[in-house]
Amino acid sequence: MRHFLTLRDFTKEEILEMITLARKIKAQTKERKFVPYLEKQTLGMIFEKSSTRTRVSFETGIYQLGGVGLFLSSNDIQLGRGEPMKDTARVISRMVDMVMIRTFEQEKLEEFAKYSKVPVINGLTDSHHPVQLMTDYLTMIEFGKEKNPVVAYVGDGNNMAHSWLMLAAKLGFELRVATPLGYECDIDIILDAMQIAKESGATITFCNNPIEAVKECDVVTTDTWVSMGQEEEKEERIKAFEGYMVDEKMMSHAKEDAIFLHCLPAYRGYEVSEETFEKHAEVIFTEAENRLHAQKGIMVWLDTKRHL
Ligand code: CP
Ligand code: NVA
Repeated sequence: MRHFLTLRDFTKEEILEMITLARKIKAQTKERKFVPYLEKQTLGMIFEKSSTRTRVSFETGIYQLGGVGLFLSSNDIQLGRGEPMKDTARVISRMVDMVMIRTFEQEKLEEFAKYSKVPVINGLTDSHHPVQLMTDYLTMIEFGKEKNPVVAYVGDGNNMAHSWLMLAAKLGFELRVATPLGYECDIDIILDAMQIAKESGATITFCNNPIEAVKECDVVTTDTWVSMGQEEEKEERIKAFEGYMVDEKMMSHAKEDAIFLHCLPAYRGYEVSEETFEKHAEVIFTEAENRLHAQKGIMVWLDTKRHL
């Protein structure tokens, strides 16, 4: 049995297998062919943080695969009143077939996985957002950016940045990360990614100058400056991120046909300008839709590993 906790846990081949499955199932879905790969299965979906895309895509995804999703907000289950994660895992995993969790510390997710009898999927933690990166890679393929892409991540060294590091390190492409001083990625995750990059041939660089990062790149991406749980730091963060808004001036340094990705929700006038956002809306909302397809690929792949 395999869990999906970070991209670190997978080989390049495995990541590409999941992407291939996602593309196949997306094509079937587009023809309204709903193959019941996960017939009668239940996906427990535990949310300790808000969500629009993750909830709707997982719930719709499992339904279209022949199963059912159970939305479990921590406000409504005993976890929110102090029942330990390990007990929650031992109860829920005896009743459902797969679990998706959105929580704070990565350790909480790992604790659940340790005690779970069924595969566990990371639906976002403070440190990683791997299902989003599978989605972003699927979107890059669809927009013709998978061949030796140069990707620039501009903004906070957060869960999205960490998952970009892992994707680039595993797949072997060039990633340039521009963060303001004091908002760099986690040093352990950087070192880990650099080690993996040595084997894959990925080039990963860090700087404090967004213009330098986006120069002649194929993909520009960013994320909110204030992640869930950081609301109290909002004012100081907005000051620290001055000059980091992705706008047309910044995009003019990228390749002419560069695409812009955003995991959403987007805060216009902060990490991205209204103009740049709307100019790239087709890519951004295809990316949002691809959450549905990428996660079907992940769920079906995890199911096949369980039966081996
Ligand atoms: N991108 C993303 O995970 O969106 P939600 O927070 O709406 O799930
Ligand atoms: N970095 C953001 C991503 C939201 C999908 C957060 O953690 O809130």
